[in-house]
Amino acid sequence: MDNFSNDKVDIESLRRKAFNYRWATLEEDVIPLTAADPDFPVAPEIREAINHYCSDGYFSYCPPEGLMDFKLAIAQWYSERYNAICEPQHILPVNSAAHGLFIAANTILEPGDNAIIPDPVDFLFRKSIEAAGAEVRTCPIDENTAWQSIDALEGLIDDRTKAIFICNPNNPIGKKLPTDFLNDLIILAEKHQLWIVSDEIWADITFGEPTKSLLNKELADYSKKIVVSGLSKNFGLAGLRIGYVICPNQQVFDSIFKSSGHQSTAFGISGLSQMAGAAAFSKAGYWLEEFKLHLIKMRSMTLDFINKAEFLSSVEPDATYLAFPKIKNTDLKADELVQLIHQQARVALVPGGKEWFEQQSEGHIRICYATSEQLLREAFDRIITIQSKIIR
Ligand SMILES: Cc1ncc(COP(=O)(O)O)c(C=O)c1O
Repeated sequence: MDNFSNDKVDIESLRRKAFNYRWATLEEDVIPLTAADPDFPVAPEIREAINHYCSDGYFSYCPPEGLMDFKLAIAQWYSERYNAICEPQHILPVNSAAHGLFIAANTILEPGDNAIIPDPVDFLFRKSIEAAGAEVRTCPIDENTAWQSIDALEGLIDDRTKAIFICNPNNPIGKKLPTDFLNDLIILAEKHQLWIVSDEIWADITFGEPTKSLLNKELADYSKKIVVSGLSKNFGLAGLRIGYVICPNQQVFDSIFKSSGHQSTAFGISGLSQMAGAAAFSKAGYWLEEFKLHLIKMRSMTLDFINKAEFLSSVEPDATYLAFPKIKNTDLKADELVQLIHQQARVALVPGGKEWFEQQSEGHIRICYATSEQLLREAFDRIITIQSKIIR
């Protein structure tokens, strides 16, 4: 557990490098439990691979369809961890999971089409569909079970519906999708000939049963499954902008590749990022396991805090390093609560609300607990201290 002890969090470095509502963007006395980006340095094997890649001084163009070492490492990871059928030649490394979602949406949607997304879910889902000129339709997801009603999904489908997007495990609710739901979803998609786009960037961060990937061999076979993922959450590589799209066959790969713009060299992923990604998957699995053991402790500290905070209530997340408690016993809206906690407790959080996580996320706050025990304890103590100013 040494890689995740209190002294491993280097706040000086984070203040220089951790943007996106984190250390580098906030006042010095504020603890950020905001963007889902760990406070720990990455695995030593990844740092060694980066040093090695840099050592001969060459940074030439890479193949537009991605480096085979990275594609092989992804395919092996998916087949070993997720019992998946996944061919390296059908994987396109891209510069982030975010971009992977944009490429997938752009490939399968045309202006005037529509696609269904869960509510709540990360804002990238809406953005990628709207960027393709298509309309977003939301279907509520049950916070307790992570199910969406198949009838409700079917009720949203018309002749311009082309895809159902899922987030497994779900950001922000921190739950993985049940196997029965995935099977029912595949049957529904096949009936209406819809694409299923599964964002699995959180798949490696689960407690208990592993995530059932859409590509798991035990699920029904279907030729319109696309998986998007990345290495920001499991291996802390957000700043290297590194992700991938897994396609079911050569034809889909060719379409995804075409709309990626990689061949023009205007878009693409750096060789350095791909080598770092290959090292993560092939050498740093042990580090991820240690990280998860640390996260189990941080999750239980977070749930204890939520129980103690009379203005919050939560279901237990079984994946991600996010908690998404509901606000209660206060007149404050989520953004007002987050503002008050920022100003008076000096802790930064993310408010629920349509801008970040769709309509159903109103009345919640999101806490990222991928930090040290000491920092998390300090943040929670500070919030509890101002509890009387919150409860009405
Ligand atoms: C569900 C989901 N998809 C995609 C992303 C973006 O990942 P990346 O850093 O690879 O763009 C995030 C980041 O929070 C996320 O939660």
